[in-house]
Amino acid sequence: MAKKQVRIALLGFGTVGSGIYRIVTGMRDEIARREDVELSVARVLVKALDEPNTKIAEDQSIFTTNFEDVLADEEVSVIAECMGGEEPARTFIMAALNAGKTVVTSNKEVFAKHWKQMEEAAHLSGAGLYFEATVGGGIPVIRTLTHSMQGNNVESIMGIINGTTNYILTAMSEEGREFADVLREAQAKGYAEFDPTADVEGFDAMYKISILASLAFNTRVPIERVYREGISKVTKQDIGYAREFGCAIKLLAIAKMKEGRIEVRVHPTMVPLEHPLAAVRGSFNAVFIHGNNVDDVMLYGRGAGSLPTASAMVSDIIIACSGHEHRYPLLDANGDGNTFEDDWESEFYVHMKVLDKPGVLARIAGVFGKHQVSLASVIQKEPDSNDTAHLVFITHKSREKAFGAAIEEIEGLPEVSAVLGRLRVEH
Ligand code: HSE
Repeated sequence: MAKKQVRIALLGFGTVGSGIYRIVTGMRDEIARREDVELSVARVLVKALDEPNTKIAEDQSIFTTNFEDVLADEEVSVIAECMGGEEPARTFIMAALNAGKTVVTSNKEVFAKHWKQMEEAAHLSGAGLYFEATVGGGIPVIRTLTHSMQGNNVESIMGIINGTTNYILTAMSEEGREFADVLREAQAKGYAEFDPTADVEGFDAMYKISILASLAFNTRVPIERVYREGISKVTKQDIGYAREFGCAIKLLAIAKMKEGRIEVRVHPTMVPLEHPLAAVRGSFNAVFIHGNNVDDVMLYGRGAGSLPTASAMVSDIIIACSGHEHRYPLLDANGDGNTFEDDWESEFYVHMKVLDKPGVLARIAGVFGKHQVSLASVIQKEPDSNDTAHLVFITHKSREKAFGAAIEEIEGLPEVSAVLGRLRVEH
């Protein structure tokens, strides 16, 4: 019997788009045999016809610089968007969905910002909307949440979902180098973008955790509700002190549901060295999910890159054309009815430079106590001059606002030269 033919269009032919082309053409026969569908790349939207990657295609007539050519091709039923950025990706995705074409995307920014609008358009036209590659590159984390954990209430997610920052923190930790130095080298090698803001300041992780938290808690978690702090203030001294407390520093994206309240945050975090996330090195990603019945699940793999990301998108394409009805996650309304927690509890690490004289430690401890912040441990480091010392504290679980108020008061003490670092600790 003739197999189903599916003609795909790619929007963008950079790292990810060319990866999809390679998998679809290189595995055409295996996919046809196993999945009963013959995939072909029929159209590719590029910025210029002489882009370097276009050379890999046998048939140069698939390339166009005009989106209308893609939209008007009635034989194309699936559009894989891998351009990145908000516009024109949003406009193209909306036009495709409105025209009834199924969209598969790896674009976390456009998806996190416009998911609701896109899903409404998909519902109306009956098109599919698939986004496995928006989080964790090749790691099947979206389908794990939507198709493999339905018998659970997801209680928490903690993830390393940005490879660039994990690469930088790993190099800082293993080579004892400062942030700016590692970043410069990563940029020179092409591991970090020329403008690294989206990665190092936590925007990329913010988009991704907003998508994961929405699926985990079945409600929309808009990016505006995600607390965000990047890694640019982490120092090699912080990393050294964290290790003395038996911890690594990771940029974690965290989402928790506690007594009906949702907390979602991205920030550099101290995690005990025994925690599985502490062992995730380099540009790898990992997501640690806790469900009330399954207990802990951890997924690990390549969060970016040509073939890993394309692997997730090809899987979406195959599922999209498998003949099943398209499914859209059933999220409660638009999240307006949710209670978001912005005064969450965690342990804290704080490093300060103080005058080394009698009574200083007691005075600082007194301020913490006044704000109901209980101290778990303190170490005093060798003074770097005769009359100064470095104090490093770890607190017991405290509320965010209480800790912030204590630090503000401590920064005003005449004996405190500077609060040099502060981090949250998770277990
Ligand atoms: N820039 C991302 C990262 C990959 O560093 O993980 C794409 O989401």
